[in-house]
Amino acid sequence: MDNDARTTEEFGFSTRAIHVGQAPDPTTGATIVPLYLTSTYTQTDLGEHRGYEYGRADNPTRKALETALASLEHGQYGITFASGMAAIDVVMRMLSRGDRVLAGEDLYGGAYRLFERVYRDYGVITEYVNLSDPDEFVKALHPKSRLLWLETPTNPLLRVADIRQLAAAAHDRGMWVAVDNTFATPYLQNPLDLGADMVVHSMTKYIGGHSDVLGGVVITNQESIFERLKFLQNAVGSILGAFEAWLILRGVKTLGVRMARHQENAVALREFLQQHPAVERVYYPGSESAHEAEVVSRQMRGPGAMLSFEVRPRKGQAEVERVREVVRATKIFALAESLGGVESLIGHPATMTHAAIPAETRRIRGISDALIRVSVGIEEADDLIRDLGRALD
Ligand SMILES: Cc1ncc(COP(=O)(O)O)c(C=O)c1O
Repeated sequence: MDNDARTTEEFGFSTRAIHVGQAPDPTTGATIVPLYLTSTYTQTDLGEHRGYEYGRADNPTRKALETALASLEHGQYGITFASGMAAIDVVMRMLSRGDRVLAGEDLYGGAYRLFERVYRDYGVITEYVNLSDPDEFVKALHPKSRLLWLETPTNPLLRVADIRQLAAAAHDRGMWVAVDNTFATPYLQNPLDLGADMVVHSMTKYIGGHSDVLGGVVITNQESIFERLKFLQNAVGSILGAFEAWLILRGVKTLGVRMARHQENAVALREFLQQHPAVERVYYPGSESAHEAEVVSRQMRGPGAMLSFEVRPRKGQAEVERVREVVRATKIFALAESLGGVESLIGHPATMTHAAIPAETRRIRGISDALIRVSVGIEEADDLIRDLGRALD
């Protein structure tokens, strides 16, 4: 199947995930896209080739993945990268010294580190606002604001922002809008349909789905953005390797069934945690306010499978010590960074994923030392509930 508009409209999510860009290999009929391990391509004549010249620019295995993902995100163009951070980096390279970025205040620590410790030195300034409140966005605008960087749902507090409303306001000011859709995946949310110019994913998470590979992708419908990103990637070289592309493509085929199960388990776990006496508060997309619940129902097909909660310390106990007790006691939930794999993971944002954010900034943003984040896997829900329940007792 090709990735034309007809294919995208005609077939459902999993049909596209399994077939788009993945026609049988023309030379052998191999049903599964082969792993093309080649750095260069033999040309047919001077100035003539079969569409491939050099591995940094293109690779057929990578292209199959890019085509499939573009279709899933309702986009025309996909470019894959060595990691999610490499994808974010190339989006940032579209900016020039003096340009400004507006980003949500609750965002992945690695993105914060890139904005603050790399691009700020190059003269690209990022400001952070609570994007769940569109008025704050408008107040923070600057004549040089060039990019709106949106993560929704956010990491780790699972706040939600109204993509359609913010994208319209940003476009009024001539800004680009990029949405990090890693937590929702295209199964649950398609930001391009809501007005975003670029969708970014860490494919290391749900898209790959098996915690065995790193990758990133940017998807867009605009040829000019695609051409610029493609140029930048080829210039700096942050490409996805062919083997990684092959592994991720294998993961993409089951993204739909995995996400449905991830979410089913997360809903069950959330209900359990909400009534547990050792839990102070549960964070899940839409739980913050009626407004955010309404945004979830409007722009997502489900709240997803990431959830965070605050534990109550025992009398006289430091929050971090209480967290240590819990994460040491789980047997199924592994203490690890990352998310989105079939196995359940547990983490402590303050000392792990969000340690790059200064303590005071974390506190202001509501990321307390008592906060635990879980990536709910696709094991049996009852086993997950029992495991966390025992750890909290
Ligand atoms: C929301 C989000 N975006 C981007 C990234 C970065 O991706 P990678 O680790 O593949 O570089 C992560 C990693 O945890 C993430 O959680």
